[in-house]
Amino acid sequence: MERTLVLIKPDGVQRGLIGEIIKRLENRGLKLVAAKFVHVHRAFAEEHYAIHKGKPFFEGLIEYITSSPLMAMVWEGPQAVAAVRQTMGATKPTEAAPGTIRHDFALEMGRNLTHASDSIENAKTEIDLWFKPEEIFPWDRASEEWISGSN
Ligand code: RTP
Ligand code: MG
Repeated sequence: MERTLVLIKPDGVQRGLIGEIIKRLENRGLKLVAAKFVHVHRAFAEEHYAIHKGKPFFEGLIEYITSSPLMAMVWEGPQAVAAVRQTMGATKPTEAAPGTIRHDFALEMGRNLTHASDSIENAKTEIDLWFKPEEIFPWDRASEEWISGSN
């Protein structure tokens, strides 16, 4: 089963949206397998966003992500990477589809509430960066067949 890293960024925490965002991922049928509440330091944030180093928004992005605690999670499910990106919506909230988290709760790209891995390969790298293997807890869900079953 596919896994993806989700962050509820500092604005999501400050605005009291942790529950709302988790609720939407649970409603979708995704399964939470790891979670931690953490205030990351600069070096760690720079490693997480290494792909954006050198871009004009990089410094502001690092300031934003280290400004206050965030919620880091691993979610599991069929096509979890694509499903979570879809639920989050486009990076720029004013271009995000109605019904997505970024459309429904955000306006600015620099305050877009969440991060989600953008490929299966990056999801693996990011999960390894954020979580030790013993912090990930696979579990059997009674309703699994009704969510991820196929005919
Ligand atoms: P994320 O990595 O946070 O899930 O967001 P994303 O894939 O939708 O967007 P990405 O291109 O990876 O950009 C990472 C974060 O940097 C901020 N950003 N600002 N001002 C700008 O042009 C700009 N571009 C990106 C956003 O907070 C974005 O989520
Ligand atoms: Mg990204």
